Amino acid sequence: MTLIEEDSQGEVPRHVAIIMDGNGRWARNRGKPRLFGHHKGVENVRRVVDAAKEADVPYLTLYAFSVENQNRPKDEVTGLMRLLREFLKKEIRNMVKDGVRLRTIGDVAGLPEYAQKIVEEAVEKTKSNDSWNLTLALNYGSRQETLNAIRVYAEKISSGKASPKELNWDTFSSYLYTAELPDPDLIIRTSGEHRLSNFLLLQAAYAEIYVTPDPWPEFTADKFHLALQDYASRERRYGKTGEQIRLKSSISETPVSV
Ligand code: FPP
Repeated sequence: MTLIEEDSQGEVPRHVAIIMDGNGRWARNRGKPRLFGHHKGVENVRRVVDAAKEADVPYLTLYAFSVENQNRPKDEVTGLMRLLREFLKKEIRNMVKDGVRLRTIGDVAGLPEYAQKIVEEAVEKTKSNDSWNLTLALNYGSRQETLNAIRVYAEKISSGKASPKELNWDTFSSYLYTAELPDPDLIIRTSGEHRLSNFLLLQAAYAEIYVTPDPWPEFTADKFHLALQDYASRERRYGKTGEQIRLKSSISETPVSV
């Protein structure tokens, strides 16, 4: 994707990516098992998807399972995979009906076979949809994604199909899992931690970051709207000065006299 997309200034973000953190702590604080929190987390996915559609955010990406999450207790990993399967089983028909295109980023081949199967089915059945875009990060890690892109490009070089001289950001980003997606404009992290946790590290170069203390199960549609309001109040400078950015927007707002 292009490095600089200045037209999103002061507007609704084109692409919102969310680190849905805090299900486990939310459940524990209520004396419930962590999986109960993940179950509530899935319910909240439906609410936030609706909120994003209503707000005209065309691309939503959700960090559902990281490569590093594979190291969690086996029961939790299995529970998350089953929740993913149930979610997709229920939602495929709605996504097809509503024109939602589902994409994934991450190493889906590293998921259990039953999860891979339903993910592949959902991606296949929605591939010609273009009304709205939902991406699930599944077995995703930004470092792994980068290494994978380098490996594929290096193989092309060694077989004479590419040259290191041609490598620029546009070429390189076409080898990332996110090749078909615009860079995220806004990254939301719930549950208060101020870190990216191996999520879209390269794509987030100019993303605005919004951290809320609310755990994911309590991140309501209203709170999503607050995050959008906060985004709209920010000045995105992409390395330029504030004066340069304001001058450009005042020129583009000047009415042309006839
Ligand atoms: C991280 O924090 C969150 C996850 C590992 C999973 C997020 C998954 C969901 C919201 C449900 C699955 C999504 C779909 C689309 C089916 P944590 O919840 O483990 O929280 P903690 O930091 O409080 O332990």
